[in-house]
Amino acid sequence: MSGAKNESCYDVGGVLLQRPFKIRRLGHFGLNVDDTTATTRFYCELLGFRISDPMDIAEHSPNRDHLKSVGDTHLYFTRHGTDHHSFVFCDRKVFEAMGRGSMSPQDVTVNQLTWQVGSLKEISSAIDYFNERKVPISRAGRDMPGSNWHVYPFDPEGHRNELYYGIEQIGWLGTAKPKVAYERRFSERPSLPQMPEYQEIEHLREQGVDLSSGFRHPETEPARYEVDGIMLPRPFKVVRVGPIGLFCRNLESMERFYIDTMGFELTEEVVWKGHRCVFLRTGTEHHSLALYPIALREQLGFSRSTTLMRFGVQLGTYRQLRSALRYLKDRGCRILDVPRELTPGVEYCAYVLDPSGHAVQLYFAMQQVGTPAALSANAPVPTNWESWPETVHAGSGSFLGEPFLGPLG
Ligand SMILES: [Fe+2]
Repeated sequence: MSGAKNESCYDVGGVLLQRPFKIRRLGHFGLNVDDTTATTRFYCELLGFRISDPMDIAEHSPNRDHLKSVGDTHLYFTRHGTDHHSFVFCDRKVFEAMGRGSMSPQDVTVNQLTWQVGSLKEISSAIDYFNERKVPISRAGRDMPGSNWHVYPFDPEGHRNELYYGIEQIGWLGTAKPKVAYERRFSERPSLPQMPEYQEIEHLREQGVDLSSGFRHPETEPARYEVDGIMLPRPFKVVRVGPIGLFCRNLESMERFYIDTMGFELTEEVVWKGHRCVFLRTGTEHHSLALYPIALREQLGFSRSTTLMRFGVQLGTYRQLRSALRYLKDRGCRILDVPRELTPGVEYCAYVLDPSGHAVQLYFAMQQVGTPAALSANAPVPTNWESWPETVHAGSGSFLGEPFLGPLG
């Protein structure tokens, strides 16, 4: 039975692992910000993220009027590709007024650090796994907009992680699911199995719902730049989000959490001026997550108001990276110098500050890690498939490479 324990291992799709899920990649990332208007200008107008859905988080709150007096009550879901969202942000003051910052120190401005797993069963099993280990969870279920099934565990220093399966994919129409399609939202662990998304959509179609009536981002900038043969509103295109870098108060405890509990692998550690920094991966990328001691925050000139060291954003090509830096500098963005030794695995990169002082690391290429030699000697596979074992140990290629993005059906 998938998700069941077997000799202190968990069965994930017939492969035995030390935890009942396998993180495939960073799915999205979120920040609590000072000024949503300035943040929208920076991430959408300048960097080109498109809003897939703005959601009023005060809409059903009994404190609606108070929250409206505190600030902008919208949570902005934005995307660079077909995932419904790859970057989200909301007003930090409203987030705190809703009591959502109570699990975290004041300088944790990460709204969510979100990792994709491969199935709903992995999400369901992860809930028990986190509960058994007394890892605090803020909630579990399925959120709309985005349609992703998830659980939110906190790391030891109050950064809210999220594991999800099956995020909504936005296609050529550019429209998100309409609000009337939000009926299968869950605020607790769903029973298994669930129907495929295809049937959910069929049901809406039978009800006569206009499936193309969801939000569509209004692109206001004219397409005036040629980017390798296509006219675009900016001289570059964001193609991927991550890695994330965090400043840590207790680096060893954070390292143990991300390696032992979450299943990251250590790629490399660097000691810079006496400070040990670690670089962790989930797949073949050099790192998806980097942990730095908080003493470096001030030493490097980073904002004291956030534990985020960097939000990585990958651009299409080296030429695009150079064009982006010129474009952003011409529009008043501040670019921060960071010693190259602190970002192994990423060659050419630069750090641009967002309006709240978060550092966005722009780069175009990340080193990829091959199969470790210790794993390359897989157990021999019997020729006759009928004599294969019921479960196998993780081999050299298990769960590596490009994952399937959206829901399974
Ligand atoms: Fe999320």
